[in-house]
Amino acid sequence: MKARLEQIREKAISQITGCESAEKLNEVRVAILGKKGELTNLLKSMKDVAPEERPKVGQMVNEARAEIEKVLEEHKTRMEKVLREARMKAEVIDVTLPAKRAQLGHRHPNTIALEEVERIFVGMGYEVVEGSEVEKDYYNFEALNIPADHPAKDEQDTFYVVSETGDILLRTQTSGVQVHEMEKGRLPIRMIAPGRVFRSDEVDATHSPCFYQIEGLVVDKNITFADLKGTLAEFARALFGEDTKVKFRPHHFPFTEPSAEVDVSCFKCGGKGCRFCKGSGWIEILGCGMVHPHVLEVSGIDPEEYTGFAFGIGLERIALLKYEIDDMRLLYENDIRFLRQF
Ligand code: DAH
Repeated sequence: MKARLEQIREKAISQITGCESAEKLNEVRVAILGKKGELTNLLKSMKDVAPEERPKVGQMVNEARAEIEKVLEEHKTRMEKVLREARMKAEVIDVTLPAKRAQLGHRHPNTIALEEVERIFVGMGYEVVEGSEVEKDYYNFEALNIPADHPAKDEQDTFYVVSETGDILLRTQTSGVQVHEMEKGRLPIRMIAPGRVFRSDEVDATHSPCFYQIEGLVVDKNITFADLKGTLAEFARALFGEDTKVKFRPHHFPFTEPSAEVDVSCFKCGGKGCRFCKGSGWIEILGCGMVHPHVLEVSGIDPEEYTGFAFGIGLERIALLKYEIDDMRLLYENDIRFLRQF
């Protein structure tokens, strides 16, 4: 029995000190000291020991148990220390290393151009109004004198939203905001309405199925074409510089009469003609006109008493011109290396 005890003790100590993980150590502890462990089993066979020997053998077993437990505890502490040191070594932080910089975004050229346009018109007493991107056919077309058979309504141009009535669409222009504003019945009106518009166009250097317009509308008593000219000339000078000249070319829009397109003198060559203005010395920037009496009328405004003017600006066009960008696609890719330049 004594020899067996010695054998268990030695085996236990060598096994314990050979352990390299807490799980393994626990396995060894159970195999020796557990309910069915070797030492526990040995204790159970005390009944075979002669009665007078039992106290002595019992003491020996208890001593061996105490020693094994002590070794176990010590090894556990030692092992934890080694593991902790290894972990600290692995997780060491070099506080002198430069930190990773968070990538900062940048304002988009469209945003910068829009803020500039808003600043100019707000300075002239205009209100900035927001319209809805999903619109009824009535506001996008019909109220603006664009009847059902008008080519602009061709399904190739307009994205329709599937609906029971079939008259819901993604607005193709911001001009519908004019009608909404007039329907509110609060006069006079002096507003601009920037926003996204949608057309079923292929993407290329000058087209996109989604782009931005800025609508403008003024309705009051005694508004004339002279007010329109003065306002837009002032706008062009504020945006492109004091020396900018403005030209009004007759044009047609269904919802204005008379209508015009506005060109500004090329700010690159001053009007002499260059690559930028394609040799003409002029660059087109917007469409405009006097609000058609019928549009005023269907929107609840008496055209005998009130008159107004409207204009529509393509925001991308302004951004491309101002920052001399030659491909519209660059505006939609949102490559931060491109955006950072503005
Ligand atoms: N809605 C027109 C377009 O998308 C632009 C426009 C032209 C708006 C003349 C106007 C305007 O308010 O008076 O082509």
